[in-house]
Amino acid sequence: MEKTTIWVLLSFLLFSSFLFQIHAGNKQTHALNNLYRAKWSPNSAIDTGHFEPPQHINDSSILSQEGLKTNDKIDRLPGQPYVRFDQYGGYVTVNETAGRAFYYYFVEADPTSKKSLPLLLWLNGGPGCSSLAYGAMQELGPFRVNSDGKTLYRNDFSWNHAANVLFVESPAGVGFSYSNTSSDYLNCGDASTAIDNYVFLLNWLKRFPEYEDREFYISGESYAGHYVPQLANLILYYNKMANRTIINLKGILIGNAVINDETDSKGMYDYFGSHAIVSDEILDRIRKYCDFSPNTTKQSDKCIEANGDVSSNLGLIDIYNIYVPLCSKRILTPKPKPMSKAIDPCSNHYTYVYMNRQDVQEALHANVTKLDHDWEPCSDLITKWNDSPATVIPLLRELMKNNLRVWIFSGDTDARVPVTSTKYSINSMSLPIKTPWHTWVYQGKLGGFAQVYEGDLTFATVLGAGHQVPSYKPKSALGLVTHFLSGKPLNASRY
Ligand SMILES: *[C@@H]1O[C@H](CO)[C@@H](O)[C@H](O)[C@H]1NC(C)=O
Ligand SMILES: *[C@@H]1O[C@H](CO)[C@@H](O)[C@H](O)[C@H]1NC(C)=O
Ligand SMILES: *[C@@H]1O[C@H](CO)[C@@H](O)[C@H](O)[C@H]1NC(C)=O
Ligand SMILES: *[C@@H]1O[C@H](CO)[C@@H](O)[C@H](O)[C@H]1NC(C)=O
Ligand SMILES: *[C@@H]1O[C@H](CO)[C@@H](O)[C@H](O)[C@H]1NC(C)=O
Ligand SMILES: *[C@@H]1O[C@H](CO)[C@@H](O)[C@H](O)[C@H]1NC(C)=O
Ligand SMILES: *[C@@H]1O[C@H](CO)[C@@H](O)[C@H](O)[C@H]1NC(C)=O
Repeated sequence: MEKTTIWVLLSFLLFSSFLFQIHAGNKQTHALNNLYRAKWSPNSAIDTGHFEPPQHINDSSILSQEGLKTNDKIDRLPGQPYVRFDQYGGYVTVNETAGRAFYYYFVEADPTSKKSLPLLLWLNGGPGCSSLAYGAMQELGPFRVNSDGKTLYRNDFSWNHAANVLFVESPAGVGFSYSNTSSDYLNCGDASTAIDNYVFLLNWLKRFPEYEDREFYISGESYAGHYVPQLANLILYYNKMANRTIINLKGILIGNAVINDETDSKGMYDYFGSHAIVSDEILDRIRKYCDFSPNTTKQSDKCIEANGDVSSNLGLIDIYNIYVPLCSKRILTPKPKPMSKAIDPCSNHYTYVYMNRQDVQEALHANVTKLDHDWEPCSDLITKWNDSPATVIPLLRELMKNNLRVWIFSGDTDARVPVTSTKYSINSMSLPIKTPWHTWVYQGKLGGFAQVYEGDLTFATVLGAGHQVPSYKPKSALGLVTHFLSGKPLNASRY
């Protein structure tokens, strides 16, 4: 009975995600909604307690990487335009006994600058979504897939202009990453993901020793609002344990990030209300009858009814960017459509087709064990999540206390983890303001608005961008990451 109740409570989100699956193939919403549904269920088995580093990382996790880098060099991807920078792709074993390996795709900066630029890791969220599907192929990577599903075009604002960029499909069960112990797919959660990510990094840095001492930054979006501070925390912890810099972490950058369940949820409904997606009357009922505090186990019938009314307004909009159309036809074109700067709403489909081609997988050194399932933008294998803290704010505080740079950005046309949520979450930290709210510009163009807090936390909006900020505002996003990496504040408007 109670389970049904909660299912109904969140059914509006599920309802919208079904539409995404049918019309757009965009499964990121689906993954996040499943998690929330499970978290808020009265019989939830999900541990929402605080994230704690494990006491010990077994040395046997660090394996010889001899000769592996050379094998991972990618000659050229099918349908790829000519480029000067180097690309690598391959597997890193994160647990030998289980036979668990993460797939990575690494794009270096231009040969003339790669030695001086930092190393930047990018993680997508979900949980269960692929950094290759979104980050690399639709957001900040050097290429995007054409509408023919077999050729690529350049992204002029690729983040490898600012850093050497590493994309990882994490945890096992996402994209090309896998485990030979299939029960691993049912034992996923924040803690095991963080440990595997950490072991991945230790091994990867051994494979690419020239990056071992390099300044290192971690970035990501959406549910990576959990992954990024958790991994950063592990790095800090093990550096301290060893009394030396094992990984030279300098900062984190998270966008439209899941940070704090209570404020994230309130902010989502407030965004629906303030953007005329639901009526004031419905919003009033949500505010009055729903309780999003961490320990809530049951919502009132009136809250459930109000949610139903929210649901009926969401069917035809892209909740990830309320001003763009949904993908209406998931079909390829024989010849590539001319692509505009903004991403094609059906690009998820083009990417899906491209990544499932055998010649592409061979070029990427992916799927070498011939997995028994397709490559999917968000995993079908991961159907259960064991632990997900209600908040990562204590981790952000810890990072700031250790003088790491923390930047939080928000594409302001996303309704799923919207700018209102991020503002409420940051406000709940009650940080003193260092630089008051101002417009920020990049190369003479308005990028958005920003505010800097004491303790080196920058909050920046990206005007007109949806959830996947670099997809919608590639130039602003490159400006943002460039400033983040250089540690120089965003440029205020001269007006
Ligand atoms: C490390 O892991 C290996 C394999 O799982 C195990 O045989 C060994 O006892 C572990 N060592 C420690 C110190 O935990
Ligand atoms: C490897 O993964 C298994 C789960 O499949 C886990 O029980 C084991 O502790 C892990 N080993 C190490 C060394 O982390
Ligand atoms: C998984 O099993 C396949 C087939 O036995 C093997 O080739 C592969 O190396 C294993 N993966 C890992 C990470 O051990
Ligand atoms: C850590 O290293 C520093 C310098 O190498 C040394 O002075 C200090 O005693 C070490 N601390 C611990 C707890 O080992
Ligand atoms: C929620 O429960 C935890 C323990 O599970 C407790 O520490 C916390 O104070 C509770 N929060 C609220 C708002 O009641
Ligand atoms: C791996 O390759 C097999 C055989 O070609 C294919 O059926 C499967 O869809 C591929 N899986 C992934 C994850 O790429
Ligand atoms: C930002 O401002 C600095 C000095 O105020 C200027 O040198 C730089 O060109 C500006 N950068 C951009 C991207 O506008």
